[in-house]
Amino acid sequence: MTWTPSSWRDRPAKHIPEDYPDLDHLSDVEARLAAFPPLVFAGEVRTLKQRLASVAAGEAFLLQGGDCAESFKEFSADNIRDTLRVMLQMAVVLTYAASKPVVKVGRLAGQFGKPRSSPVEEIDGVTLPSYRGDNINGMDFTEASRTPDPERLIKAYSQSASTLNLVRAFSRGGYADLANVHQWMLGFVDRSPLGERYRMMADKISDALDFMRACGVTSQSVPQMAQVEVYTSHEALLLGYEEAMTRIDSTSGDWYDTSAHMLWIGHRTRQVDHAHVEFCKGVKNPIGMKCGPGLEPDELLRIIETLNPEDEAGRITLISRFGAEGVKEGLAPLARAVKASGRTVVWSCDPMHGNTLKTESGFKTRPVDRVLTEVRGFIDVLNAEGCVPGGVHFEMTGQDVTECIGGAQAISEADLSSRYHTHCDPRLNGEQALELAFLIAEKLIEIKDASQMPSRVAG
Ligand code: PEP
Ligand code: CO
Repeated sequence: MTWTPSSWRDRPAKHIPEDYPDLDHLSDVEARLAAFPPLVFAGEVRTLKQRLASVAAGEAFLLQGGDCAESFKEFSADNIRDTLRVMLQMAVVLTYAASKPVVKVGRLAGQFGKPRSSPVEEIDGVTLPSYRGDNINGMDFTEASRTPDPERLIKAYSQSASTLNLVRAFSRGGYADLANVHQWMLGFVDRSPLGERYRMMADKISDALDFMRACGVTSQSVPQMAQVEVYTSHEALLLGYEEAMTRIDSTSGDWYDTSAHMLWIGHRTRQVDHAHVEFCKGVKNPIGMKCGPGLEPDELLRIIETLNPEDEAGRITLISRFGAEGVKEGLAPLARAVKASGRTVVWSCDPMHGNTLKTESGFKTRPVDRVLTEVRGFIDVLNAEGCVPGGVHFEMTGQDVTECIGGAQAISEADLSSRYHTHCDPRLNGEQALELAFLIAEKLIEIKDASQMPSRVAG
């Protein structure tokens, strides 16, 4: 069967809403979207693929993060700036620790649609369709709001375009200057109750910057120091939208999904013969895939073969999300099978989606210590299997929310109600995210040191 941007329509598809009241209206919106300009360009997508190929080879580290679900309500310049600021700060810490470039990929400028564990929600005896993301329906618990509205796709496109525009401006216009980012971090270290623990690393980064400045390496002499590459990504869930954004690149003649640089396939939609894998098969973007409980090694190899028959480096990122308790047992057989197959992949760790729990008062939350335990377990398992722990995938925001418990600010269950704003899953706040970057950095330094120790020769 030949692939086309619409060939997914002949396959079973999970988590794509079918209850639009007017399907002609939906088709009309998709046709309008297909005539809109691309959000990203094929050349940028190819550069990201090269960067990910370096990650697969152990020469760079991937940092992917942002909202669980972007929303129309939380859309503002300040929110975008603050998310980016935290990503950049995390990236500096990880660059230092890994002694490698950090590839920065936001869950932003298009991360709207959500797969839900139940298609309906019941409150006080009233049952309505679940909220599925602002590009589909609304959060308010009313029939009107929960009815899918195709015009939301146009609004999501336009919000993605504005978000991306601001991200491009921030990343090239001086805001991302390394010296700035480091200054913000020193502020964090001063404020953090765990500041002493991080100070040594922050001071070493200051020393490195001072040394570079003394050698004449500043953002005036080397403009790249004031610029960063930030890429966009989201879950390729709503395939009608993705199809509309898929275009032929005139340079290569290949199909690219121009809605984002990177797309990923979620834990619930990765069936090898279903629509989501079919769609992703034909576009040239880097593709992520969530690997969680229930995924068998054989099945994983078949999906890799389907998505990347030519074993192109940088094409596939496997995002492990087993939870702190499950990572060892879940990830090891997959890592072993992929290694034995000789396939090139990036291994990344999403320590969020396997660590969600509900408190007695009904809040979905994630304990920061479990998040960290999963990252540590991920690094240990891959090291033991002779694979490269290539990156991390976080849900976070630059805002001072109280959605995940723990961390240096010791957010408790009782604190959750104070600033709980997420439209879907609980996110790390800015301080928790940065703290995790420091803790992961410690782990990366530990394994780097261990690998540099001269091995003892027996006898
Ligand atoms: C997500 O990344 O927001 C998500 C829904 O994850 P998963 O598919 O791993 O459950
Ligand atoms: Co989520």
